[in-house]
Amino acid sequence: MHNEKIKEGIYWVGAIDWDVRNFHGYLTEQGTTYNAYLVVDEKITLVDTVKENLFEQMISRISRYVDPSKIDYLLSNHVEMDHSGSIPRMMELIPNATVITSKQGEKGLRRHYGKEWDFKVVKSGDTICTGNRTLSFVNTPMVHWPDSMVTYLPEEKILFSNDAFGQHLATPERFDDELGWSVVKRDAAKYYANIVLPFGKQVNKALSALSDLDLELICPSHGVIWRSFIPKITAEYQKWANHEAEKRALIVYDSMWHSTEKIAQALESGLSELGIRTTLRNLKVNHISDIMSDVLNSKLILMGSPTLNNGLLPTMGSFITYLKGLKPQNKIGFAFGSYGWGGQAVGELEKTIDELSWEQPVKGFNIEYVPDRDDLSGAHDTGKLLGEHLLESGE
Ligand code: FEO
Repeated sequence: MHNEKIKEGIYWVGAIDWDVRNFHGYLTEQGTTYNAYLVVDEKITLVDTVKENLFEQMISRISRYVDPSKIDYLLSNHVEMDHSGSIPRMMELIPNATVITSKQGEKGLRRHYGKEWDFKVVKSGDTICTGNRTLSFVNTPMVHWPDSMVTYLPEEKILFSNDAFGQHLATPERFDDELGWSVVKRDAAKYYANIVLPFGKQVNKALSALSDLDLELICPSHGVIWRSFIPKITAEYQKWANHEAEKRALIVYDSMWHSTEKIAQALESGLSELGIRTTLRNLKVNHISDIMSDVLNSKLILMGSPTLNNGLLPTMGSFITYLKGLKPQNKIGFAFGSYGWGGQAVGELEKTIDELSWEQPVKGFNIEYVPDRDDLSGAHDTGKLLGEHLLESGE
């Protein structure tokens, strides 16, 4: 028996993408799922679709429960192609179906696919009756695109949340408690840090709009369905949306001849002496999308690079480009590095910290060629000084 029935007449009919490892720059080391849902009522509704190349997976799942040609409503909560990619092929099977979407959704679907489908544009507060159930819509712009919306089924207490509350995780399990909180929280945090982080204000608005809903299930468009950890994940989202982080430190760096690495280690020893949990991430061996989980989680961020050709090492250049796009806020920053001549890398990192409007209580640490014992002792003390700032900082 397939584990796709969520409630009586409601089924997960999505696709598991076991092989995807790069999701526009996000390392999806465990693959992902594109979740579509089928609501079988007097009118049959398909909630979102899957990436175009996995259309057959979705159709074979739908066919277990209904004849796909009998679908009345195709509900598009979000235009991005991981969810809309199979709409054109689906609409060839159901040319008379109504495509329910937001105003921006209609525009986006027309721009992507150029088709004259029977669009029904909805907005927050609108409802559509499917027989014994009601589709109730809430616009959630920028979570993740301007068109994004979520759909609530009050009779079933189900929220189809699309990208919100998602995790990139390919798994045969369908529910959060089948994997456990620590696993799903880790993947939900990485997802938030890499996809949703720039949109804290909009997440706050969405959480406020959803706060009165009675929820038994949150069905996102990636990963497992939330049923046991709904209070926990909504509390995490609230914290992340407010850019609250733990009093932990993250040292992210790259090194040419181990000088910057030695400074990183000395900074870590100073921080650890104060009992501050400190994570070291070497850009040579860690993917920037993994490091973003540490950024989300840590209040103090130390960034180190040697100077190469009057600038940053390319790995650090890539990291700060990614970081500036994701705009984490409310951090304490610090820059360090080493150089032979020139020494511009530390200045570039300090500029990045300023651009992000992070607090920068201590001037950057820049060592010529190789740090000696005094330099490393100075780096250790600087680590302690930064740690004191961290401990004295607000939440
Ligand atoms: Fe999962 Fe914004 O698409």
